[in-house]
Amino acid sequence: RRVAILISGRGSNMAALIRAAAEPDFPAEIAVVISNRVDAAGLQKAAASGIAVEIIESKPFGKDRAGFEAKLQQALDARGIEIICLAGFMRLFTAAFVQRWYGRMLNIHPSLLPSFPGLDPHGQALRAGVKLSGATVHFVIPETDAGPIVMQGAVVVKDDDTPETLSERILGVEHRIYPDALQLLAKGLVRLEGDLCRTSTV
Ligand code: GRF
Repeated sequence: RRVAILISGRGSNMAALIRAAAEPDFPAEIAVVISNRVDAAGLQKAAASGIAVEIIESKPFGKDRAGFEAKLQQALDARGIEIICLAGFMRLFTAAFVQRWYGRMLNIHPSLLPSFPGLDPHGQALRAGVKLSGATVHFVIPETDAGPIVMQGAVVVKDDDTPETLSERILGVEHRIYPDALQLLAKGLVRLEGDLCRTSTV
């Protein structure tokens, strides 16, 4: 399956996906990395791995989300993309774009959803005093950080954690579960039943 990774920044999840997909038996190929920001650090990493990169700036489109998405869709079509992985992509989509990619677009969020969606999930987790947190890979629906959950991984929250230390520990989990979740989707081993994602036993 041909995959596009969409980024806006650092790209550590992108790098984890590229690394996993480089294995000969991985069922998906990272065909392109697309950034909506020229200054995304992940772009260099992707190029260094020999992956095609494209910059489709969202800023010039302002509030014209559909305009940006039309350009994005063109790029995805041109490369025959079948699956989209959002990896730190900081731009919301219209319901129409989400609908078009429903069941074929994944996102990763650094909390055990449905707890702590949105901004500063690490700070939210620390303020709530939870003893476990983690990361979630989910199908994208129009609501932010919601949608059928494909995979989760947990970490212990320590009393002396800061948003930075917690984020670092969760990132380790993110880099493990995102490739695993993509693998399941690419192999057709996850299916949607209403609002829930079911995994076939291998
Ligand atoms: C990750 O924590 C991801 O879960 C969230 O944004 C961050 C992106 O980090 N959606 P990176 O760009 O993958 O390093």
